[in-house]
Amino acid sequence: MGIYIAGTGLFTPNESISNEELVKSYNAYADLFNQQNKEAIEKGDLEELTYSSADFIYKASGIESRYVLSKEGILDPQRMKPKFKKRKDNEPSIQAEIAIKASKEALKNANIEIDQVDGLICACSNLQRAYPAVSIEVQQELGIQGYAYDMNVACSSATFGMQNAVNDIKAGVAETILVVNPEICTAHLNFKDRDGHFIFGDVCTAVVITKVNDSSTENFEVIDTKLKTSFSNNIRNNFGFISKNEDLDLYSDDQLFKQEGRKVFKQVVPMVEELIANHLKENNLLVSDIKRLWLHQANLSMNSLIAKRLLGRDPNEDEMPTVLNRYANTSSAGSIIAFHKYSEDFRKGDLGVICSFGAGYSVGSIIVQKT
Ligand code: COA
Repeated sequence: MGIYIAGTGLFTPNESISNEELVKSYNAYADLFNQQNKEAIEKGDLEELTYSSADFIYKASGIESRYVLSKEGILDPQRMKPKFKKRKDNEPSIQAEIAIKASKEALKNANIEIDQVDGLICACSNLQRAYPAVSIEVQQELGIQGYAYDMNVACSSATFGMQNAVNDIKAGVAETILVVNPEICTAHLNFKDRDGHFIFGDVCTAVVITKVNDSSTENFEVIDTKLKTSFSNNIRNNFGFISKNEDLDLYSDDQLFKQEGRKVFKQVVPMVEELIANHLKENNLLVSDIKRLWLHQANLSMNSLIAKRLLGRDPNEDEMPTVLNRYANTSSAGSIIAFHKYSEDFRKGDLGVICSFGAGYSVGSIIVQKT
């Protein structure tokens, strides 16, 4: 029995922020901070904040801009975080709203009707509430029968969710499952942290996984999936339902995304290379059989190095498409955006690998072949 990716969907926010705009607001915040804390800085009790640089951001990450759901709030030097209006319990939540948009596009591209969908998995790095599950809200809004659940494996949520969908279909409990990734990354990013304020953007992707091989759509068969995790504190976010019981300042840096970027780079590259290499081997495939790597989008040099180590030479853009220049890191959605935007040229039989990696550490590899 074949299992297919029948269609993908992408919701991109209307607003975007360039590196230059982001740096301008950070530098204004730094000036304010230094002014307000002049005495403490002079006494040596506090460190003066130094300016961020658009050139540094581009050189260190490959990021040029990012799409965001709340530009004004992020760029306000007095605020430095997105601003969302509190919605009533009977209004659609913001995460469900973007998930619905991406899901509808994926279903349309897959030529799949709502009544054919048996389940929905909302897989992403951050969920806006504990319960009821965001996925069940999306399920209700779309009118899907069956079951829905939320899951989180940080930047690998999408690929882990896709493996769950494939396994449920193999097990016979579903024929078609929608996996949706509403990544509102700016809400957990510390825009006051010069080392990381440029990293993330907002987006939502959706993927329809099905055993229905409809000849009217151009599917990708899922050849195999492989996951790997290994605990690390180098990417961490301590915010959780226990935080307020620990009498913590919920606005402190500790309650936002933090990472040891250099360590992540060094440790994750070999992990990803090894997982993809082993995955291909187990499926009797050579790296040269693979037309394209749709990699997680966090850092351009990191992706180039992974591809280079696998290929034994520098990759070209066609073998390793990049979206992080415009989208920045969109957590688990990144490799799916790359797949969504750069898979139309595939011909029957062409093979590719969708690969995520990030916090956990977690890595997910999905080998697909155009039908
Ligand atoms: N503007 C100007 N200078 C900056 C800066 C900014 N915004 N941020 C940091 N710097 C400075 C640092 O202070 C440091 O200065 P120093 O050499 O005098 O100490 C220098 O630039 C290098 O900083 P560093 O943090 O070591 O940069 P880097 O080259 O490691 O790049 C990342 C940072 C985060 C872009 C990079 O490490 C990365 O992407 N790693 C992978 C992370 C990843 O994939 N994470 C997954 C997240 S889900």
